[in-house]
Amino acid sequence: MRILVVGNEGQLARSLKALSPPPGVEIAAVGRPALDLLDPSTIKIAFDAAQPDLVVNAAAYTAVDKAESEPDAAFAVNGAGAEALAQQCAMRSLPFIHVSTDYVFDGSKSSPYRETDPVSPLGAYGRSKLEGERRVAAACPQHIILRTAWVFSPYGQNFVKTMLRLAASRPEIAVVDDQIGNPTYAPHLAAAILEVAQGIARRDSVSWGLYHAVGSGEVTWCGLAREVFALSERLGGPKADVRAITTAEYPTPARRPANSRLDCTRLRDAFGVELPAWREGVEDCVRELLTVRQPEPLNRSGP
Ligand SMILES: NC(=O)c1ccc[n+]([C@@H]2O[C@H](COP(=O)([O-])OP(=O)(O)OC[C@H]3O[C@@H](n4cnc5c(N)ncnc54)[C@H](OP(=O)(O)O)[C@@H]3O)[C@@H](O)[C@H]2O)c1
Repeated sequence: MRILVVGNEGQLARSLKALSPPPGVEIAAVGRPALDLLDPSTIKIAFDAAQPDLVVNAAAYTAVDKAESEPDAAFAVNGAGAEALAQQCAMRSLPFIHVSTDYVFDGSKSSPYRETDPVSPLGAYGRSKLEGERRVAAACPQHIILRTAWVFSPYGQNFVKTMLRLAASRPEIAVVDDQIGNPTYAPHLAAAILEVAQGIARRDSVSWGLYHAVGSGEVTWCGLAREVFALSERLGGPKADVRAITTAEYPTPARRPANSRLDCTRLRDAFGVELPAWREGVEDCVRELLTVRQPEPLNRSGP
């Protein structure tokens, strides 16, 4: 099975490329400029060149706050761009795994969200991703949409890297403690996607549709920051005191859901896939950042 990953340098794309696939599975990735979601002709050329058996979309417009001031850019990539990929998959009868977000919800539910819960995004990014879900589902019958959340990894920009970077220059960091979610380690999500892809290849009948896929366990941003520093300190890395604040004390252009938790029962039941605990991911990530990659990524600007 040849898997084509769309996106090259993002957290998920890099995690997919870093997998060691089993014999008989090849993973190739293509991103900008060779494949630009804003230019459908490049999608066709990239598919012709790769001749994939299955396609994973790991590319997206992910600048949540910036999307508030440039919603058209977010919709072009996350809506029309995702649809163009789905159409190309449909034309070739290829299964398509697309990735979406917890930000399709408004966070007002008091328990983890299920796939059947009503959506109501709070911002332009969430609306653009929801548009993508709808367009993908309409364009390509053989689709799996995986909603994930709070993604972190040794790559790119994310909360864990930002915390370590800030701790190098500040004794105390104020972090929001009234948003709860399921931190998801991109390499764990990548491994889950590979399992789903193999499940699709093995099965005669696949339950296409929408699934939630996040790390096991839940925590607030503040709790996550404290865990990062506990691990970092143990490994001889930077540490800061974490002061709990409310969302109201940390205004951002885009509103975020207070409850981002996603229930992943459907994914487990349909594919037997369950992501490891977020804590295991944090441990791997911090270790990798402190021992293997330092100092380059910690000096890069975070989100
Ligand atoms: N990060 C999170 O916390 C989070 C939370 C929930 C859901 N998700 C979803 O998870 C998926 C993976 O996210 P991530 O964290 O890996 O994102 P990321 O690190 O921001 O990477 C996004 C990738 O998309 C590529 N891209 C953007 N516009 C493109 C275009 N026009 N054509 C082709 N490629 C384009 C970027 O390419 P360049 O390298 O060329 O810029 C980048 O490699 C996305 O669908 C995202 O919406 C993420």
